Amino acid sequence: MKILEERIEKDGKLIEGNILLVDKFLNHQMDPFLFLEMGLELKRLFEDENITKILTIESSGIGISCVAALTFGVPVLSAKKNKAKNLRDCYVTQVASFTRGGVYDVFVARDYLNPDDRVLIIDDFLAEGNALLGLADIVKQSGATLVGAGIAIEKAFQAGGERVRNMGIRVESLAIIESMNDNGIVFRH
Ligand code: G4P
Repeated sequence: MKILEERIEKDGKLIEGNILLVDKFLNHQMDPFLFLEMGLELKRLFEDENITKILTIESSGIGISCVAALTFGVPVLSAKKNKAKNLRDCYVTQVASFTRGGVYDVFVARDYLNPDDRVLIIDDFLAEGNALLGLADIVKQSGATLVGAGIAIEKAFQAGGERVRNMGIRVESLAIIESMNDNGIVFRH
């Protein structure tokens, strides 16, 4: 998606560890007008899929998901990384964290996901794919249908995209980074 690629080139910053900082427009300070363009593009891509729910994970996926959800006219369900006391009856899955190390649990209340749902997962980054596979596992536990995943930025030089697509999950990434270094960012088209 051209405007997202241009924004990454203009405002993104590379730091060590193959990390792209996008906190000027995507996951700290957020640009809702850009989110709306991204939401409209996801709506175009998943137009015929009768999506009933968007599933994301706290925290950076929430803003993009809420704006995208307006274009689909459906609610957003945000998986939690900490189990609050009032979250009783939950689906639980384990997610390995590449950047932080270790494994953490992810929770979704059973009340909000059921076999009638057709779910689109949305997240800001696809790197190793662990968060996405965790969310896919929760959808499977619920008996709902996973229609696919809409990702803002996929880092194609990490294993996630291939892992998730090899499992038969449709992944649509709005910007796919083939490589990035001090000489610049190369996008896949
Ligand atoms: P994975 O889900 O694809 O396996 O992600 P990974 O373990 O590799 O990364 C863990 C966290 O780091 C995720 O956020 C992911 O969105 C984020 N991340 C991965 N690569 C980049 C990058 O190049 N730039 C930035 N800014 N973030 C990256 P999280 O732990 O779920 O935290 P949150 O930010 O959603 O709260």
